[in-house]
Amino acid sequence: MLSASDNTLLTLTGPGTAMGDYFRRFWQPVALSRELPEPDGAPIRIKVLGEELLAFRATDGRVGVIEPKCAHRGADLFFGRNEDCGIRCIYHGWKYDVDGKCVEMPNVPAGSGYEGKMAIKAYPTREFGDMVWAYLGPPEHMPAEISQLEFGVVPASHRYVTKRLQQCNWAQSMEGALDTAHFSFLHMPAPAMAKNDTMTAAADESRIRWLRNDPLPQFSILDHDVGFVIGGSRRADGNDLYWRITQFMLPAHSITPSPMPGETYYGYTWVPIDDESCWIYVYAWNPERALPDDERARYAKGGFGQFAELGPGYVPLRNRSNDYLIDRTEQKLRSFTGVRGIAEQDAMAQDSQGLIVDRTREHLSPTDVGVVRFRRVMLDGVRALRDGKGPAAAQRPASYDVRGGGAMAPADLSFEDVMLKRFGNTTGRARS
Ligand code: FES
Ligand SMILES: [Fe+2]
Repeated sequence: MLSASDNTLLTLTGPGTAMGDYFRRFWQPVALSRELPEPDGAPIRIKVLGEELLAFRATDGRVGVIEPKCAHRGADLFFGRNEDCGIRCIYHGWKYDVDGKCVEMPNVPAGSGYEGKMAIKAYPTREFGDMVWAYLGPPEHMPAEISQLEFGVVPASHRYVTKRLQQCNWAQSMEGALDTAHFSFLHMPAPAMAKNDTMTAAADESRIRWLRNDPLPQFSILDHDVGFVIGGSRRADGNDLYWRITQFMLPAHSITPSPMPGETYYGYTWVPIDDESCWIYVYAWNPERALPDDERARYAKGGFGQFAELGPGYVPLRNRSNDYLIDRTEQKLRSFTGVRGIAEQDAMAQDSQGLIVDRTREHLSPTDVGVVRFRRVMLDGVRALRDGKGPAAAQRPASYDVRGGGAMAPADLSFEDVMLKRFGNTTGRARS
């Protein structure tokens, strides 16, 4: 449970809010690179942390992220012509470069005093991991590098990235990733349907059985220098425990707990659009090998793991507006929820808590330990920033190359030892 004021502090990220300031100390994904496929192509409207912005790829390939209002009389630059290293307002032809500088003002006479002075707001951008990232914070605190998440470091052939719209506040969706106990219910096939179900095709039957049979996993948490790693252990066969190890990295990244050694890793990054919706950037990567076409096709089609089936604009086909196409017969016979797809099941549960869940009314259980730690880390970070101490994690980009995943281990092994066995170190870093 949180106080009403802490709930507000945790959830609101618009301009001028404390959490908004905190997020703005980190580089954020603001679009997929493929949404801006070519130089001088169509600009796209984006909304990040409550700010309406425009992204365009200029002639030299650089991406500009600018406020969309023309400095002359406010026409919307979304309608502008993207030409010759800048975007030109359709009204009277003022032209802006990727840094927001007004480089031409055809209706202004020479010597007006406007030259070199007109500009609109623009944010620095970079591309990493097939995504466009922007830094919306104070220039003097800009991290030298984007957080080096491993999916972005491996060759492009080894990764697949996409995004999906989530129609609720970012923090409760983030909490859904850290509360891995819910798998024992939300994502279960009906008991008779453990085999050949599309939701669980890739999961091995034993894992499903262990997940189903133990809805009260025991959690352990290890802090590291950009967040924490949480392990949930369940009784497996014999004396073994089945561990599911999830990463949390500031301010809103997570690596999923399912992959066993050698399997492809999955992660996701939450970016608030406004206080009642967010983008979830989802990525798969395999450090050992290129992803073959059939694996890519599976992610692109969706309905697999965290890859939702998407309609236009990266909006999941099963979403808040259509009750996730819940099928009550399916719910009786085939799956616990009657909703297809793990990502869609997560979205349903998280959206259903409300646009912003009221954390003053909840009753937490021991399996919410990751949720509690997340809130504490975020609220401590926000308060420290208000006191003038910015997040150290933003200045540690190299520490973001962590992995998560599953492991089998004898019951007497500590979480530290399980981490050592699974990842070679206790933080899960790929290059420790
Ligand atoms: S409003 Fe854009 S040039 Fe006049
Ligand atoms: Fe889930």
